[in-house]
Amino acid sequence: MPLPPVDDQISIGDLTTNPYSFYRKARAEHPVVTVSAVGRTMLTKAADTKFVKDNWELFSSDDPNTPMRRAFQAHTLMRKDGAAHQRDRTAMASSFSPRNLREVWMPIYEEVADDYIGRLPRGETVDLFSALAAPLSARCLSHLIGLDHVADADLCRWSQTLIDGAGNFGQQQALFDATDSANDEINAAIDVTMTAPEQAGKPHAIAVMLGQEAPLEIEAIRSNIKIVIGGGINEPRDAMLTAIFGLLSNPDQKQVVLDGTTPWLNVFEESIRWVAPIQLSSRRAVEDTQIGDHDIRAGDVLMTIQASANHDEEVIENGHLFDVRRARAPHQAFGNGPHFCLGTHVARKMVADIILPRLFDRFPDMSLDPNQRVAFRGFGFRGPINLPVRLN
Ligand code: HEM
Repeated sequence: MPLPPVDDQISIGDLTTNPYSFYRKARAEHPVVTVSAVGRTMLTKAADTKFVKDNWELFSSDDPNTPMRRAFQAHTLMRKDGAAHQRDRTAMASSFSPRNLREVWMPIYEEVADDYIGRLPRGETVDLFSALAAPLSARCLSHLIGLDHVADADLCRWSQTLIDGAGNFGQQQALFDATDSANDEINAAIDVTMTAPEQAGKPHAIAVMLGQEAPLEIEAIRSNIKIVIGGGINEPRDAMLTAIFGLLSNPDQKQVVLDGTTPWLNVFEESIRWVAPIQLSSRRAVEDTQIGDHDIRAGDVLMTIQASANHDEEVIENGHLFDVRRARAPHQAFGNGPHFCLGTHVARKMVADIILPRLFDRFPDMSLDPNQRVAFRGFGFRGPINLPVRLN
């Protein structure tokens, strides 16, 4: 079979501004395509992205050229396979158990949400990105991981710095200098928690990892916490901003949610389907294989584009439209296979059960500012970069 066709037209800049038009064309004309600008082969159909992620023995998460290792100063669980991956993942999974979510974390998240939403000024226009979504996501996560002694601004900065470093395919030194500093700060903050005797035995992720019968090495504890900082702040932030934007731009949809006809969970799921906060994930073919009508060679790195899978005409009608009333809206925004998002239930409960209902309860008539445009941006990670809203 032939190798995938090569696209040497699209640039990373184009993909950052508007990836969806490229993906739509790719799904129609060349769903498996090697993109010169990123040096990887993109998979744009839902069946292919799922197939690759579900078959970890054939498609490894260990991409040798990923900037993530340099940025995180670690070989993180997201780049490990099999038993090594399971060991790191399981070590902190009990912190996220349904019982802890119900009895420990969600009551705290409710208090935090009441506090942050309660501080928003009624009758004024504010940017909900900086005034609510970013700091609120950071504060919630800080409790779950045991870093509640760290300021919101530092957590947000660390999250963005790590994400920028993990996506630093151009190997820019300035971005790695920033991740080096962030790593020093994060390691120091983790040490504060680890050495405080009163923290032992608590349900947060650091204490849970330390309390294992065979505790993880300090490097693995640090790298797990960094993954959760990079994966657990910007994504709920972007999900809630996308949801608010979607509802405020479609008043008829907002109405069916506020009158109770459509549940908040639909709003959350539709938002991350429509604009996936994590748009893609890489996997390396460990042996020669085929996808669709194309040969894939051992060592080729595949970009599974879940953002495109979520708009695939074969699984969803008019996927480019935000519509909370869909009867079925399957999506892959939380991934597939062994690396399926560990924070799925945390994110669902936080955004759909707590934050969105409270925000719209306090400001049922809030509206988009007609004088400012809301912009979405991002290739690897994507969401609104501003959301100016009049709070009524
Ligand atoms: C709307 C919110 C979120 C979205 C859309 C999202 C999406 C994802 C995706 C797509 C992956 C898989 C990446 C891959 O296959 O390589 C992932 C992994 C992960 N997520 Fe999330 N995430 C969200 C929220 C969270 C939160 C709140 C946490 C933590 C509290 C979290 C923790 C993790 C961790 C630890 C992994 C790595 C799992 C592993 O490699 O085994 N995520 N997430």
